[in-house]
Amino acid sequence: MCGIVGYTGDKQASPILLDGLEKLEYRGYDSAGIAVENGGKLTVSKTKGRLALLREKTENGAAVQGVTGIGHTRWATHGKPSEENSHPHVSESGRVAIVHNGIIENYMELKQMLLNRGRSFVSETDTEVAAQLIDFYYEGDILQAVAKAVREFEGNYALGILCVDEPGKLIAVRNHAPLIVGYALDGNYFASDVMALLAHTRSVTYLADEEIAVLEKTQVHYYSSFLDPIEKKVERVEWDSAAADKGGYEHFMFKEIMEQPEVIRRTVLPLIRDGRAEMEQIISKAMVANMKRLFIVACGSSYHVGIIAKYNIEKLARIPVEVVLASEFRYCDPIVDENTLVILISQSGETTDTLEALREAKERGATTLGIVNVEGSSIAKAADLVLYTKAGPEIAVATTKAYSAQLALTVLIALYLAEQRGTIDQATYDEILGALLAVPEQMGTILEQKAYIQYLAYQHFHNDDIFFIGRNVDYALSLEGSLKLKEISYIHSEAYAAGELKHGTISLVEDGTLVIAIASCRRLTEKTLSNAMEVRARGAQVLALAAESVKEEVSHVADQVMTIPDTHDVLLPSLAILPLQLFAYYVALYRGCDIDKPRNLAKSVTVE
Ligand code: M6R
Repeated sequence: MCGIVGYTGDKQASPILLDGLEKLEYRGYDSAGIAVENGGKLTVSKTKGRLALLREKTENGAAVQGVTGIGHTRWATHGKPSEENSHPHVSESGRVAIVHNGIIENYMELKQMLLNRGRSFVSETDTEVAAQLIDFYYEGDILQAVAKAVREFEGNYALGILCVDEPGKLIAVRNHAPLIVGYALDGNYFASDVMALLAHTRSVTYLADEEIAVLEKTQVHYYSSFLDPIEKKVERVEWDSAAADKGGYEHFMFKEIMEQPEVIRRTVLPLIRDGRAEMEQIISKAMVANMKRLFIVACGSSYHVGIIAKYNIEKLARIPVEVVLASEFRYCDPIVDENTLVILISQSGETTDTLEALREAKERGATTLGIVNVEGSSIAKAADLVLYTKAGPEIAVATTKAYSAQLALTVLIALYLAEQRGTIDQATYDEILGALLAVPEQMGTILEQKAYIQYLAYQHFHNDDIFFIGRNVDYALSLEGSLKLKEISYIHSEAYAAGELKHGTISLVEDGTLVIAIASCRRLTEKTLSNAMEVRARGAQVLALAAESVKEEVSHVADQVMTIPDTHDVLLPSLAILPLQLFAYYVALYRGCDIDKPRNLAKSVTVE
């Protein structure tokens, strides 16, 4: 979704802003702009469409001089994508320029007040209202004016502001939308995402809600919205800028698929000590003993991880688990209390629905545990407890390595809970942990077979409809396989619990329909195969995914088979997801799609 960058220092701001915005492109956007102050004069340049157009328009920044500036990539919410609606927005007097992520919910009311006082507007956005209100309150001190205005705003927002009457100064404000300040020798920066800062610094401060930062070339001061000065911590970001490069691959998505063995190692090894999943510091023994039920709340692929985690936790630890979409959890009057653990899974740590679900759970007395990939993110900060996936920056919109890291982490959680509850015997515990430790190597074997998956993708990329079926964890995998395919290849795809086919869906199957039957779960292979036979009898082509040991059995029913090495049932999804990711990737490649930045999608969804 939208991205913000700001810089004030010794260097020319425009090239820094453009480079920073480029690092935020992966988040999704439809227009971009910069505003730079130079000796009390403001230059604004904006374009609809790709950032490359803004580069062209500003001659790579050379045409917009000045050492203090703000930049923005916009993902349209209020008003269509257009040059007028894109940010930065400037107040009518030309004094205040502003970039904004999020939504100011009461903007119509504020706009009416300003219209009544004779102000006029050029865009349809809530952001222009913010610029005008700050200007309206300006009496020679931009900090005072911003503080007064933000006390009137309702909604979620991160703002970057400059005032031409106060050269060299930038203001940053956060309320339920991320904003990070970065410190470097050449000046100070802010950004809505740490990716835009990594080329300059790894020393950062995360703004909390209702906090204001005032940045100048050599100093940064922090205030509450009532302008009480506050002390903030300087933190070090673990990621380095190289992690955000394609590393010679054509697409980030492919690079991220290939990184998965290493990501699993990085995520699980620090949590294993003496052959045990060691999580006592995060999930205390007392909490496990008192736990009556567990909720897993998430969106999209993270939700799909939740479904697999439910099966594994219930199977191993015998604790009832409910998996709820974050956007539903908030409105379903959930039955949670102090004996409930609510696990929020989120790669970005910024998904609004998941964050709001977390707040809802906390208000109802539950303990919240975030499984998050981005340090310092809103969910990581707001949750009572946090476990980090160590996937590193994930740039492709379609998640792959973060999904796998989440999955591996939930297996460790299931093992830990099972041990604490006394529901697992030693041999099973050792077998599952051993299987988890073998996953990276087994993943490597699957990745080596990518040429075969590419061949299958070539055979099927013309299909208009593709169905995924499976039972139990294979059903959860079907959901993820289908989501991966549709989000990047734009092929219509549906996932069904295999047993549900006969209850309606099978009427969609006709000659040539491709059905991907996931039969990794050996105890259910036979059942899933009988569903595969039903669709085949109605003309479908069946592409199956199964464990190596049942390949022969499966190939009697399926037209083609993708295989994964055998492992413990609990770990099958960690392997089976790889062929599905590769299949989606190659299909999208053959269809000529914008794989890393699929249309209409954003990497982190920061609106409801
Ligand atoms: O950052 P989050 O894990 O909270 O994001 C949740 C979903 O938006 C995300 O998993 C989405 O479904 C993926 N882009 C799918 O590949």
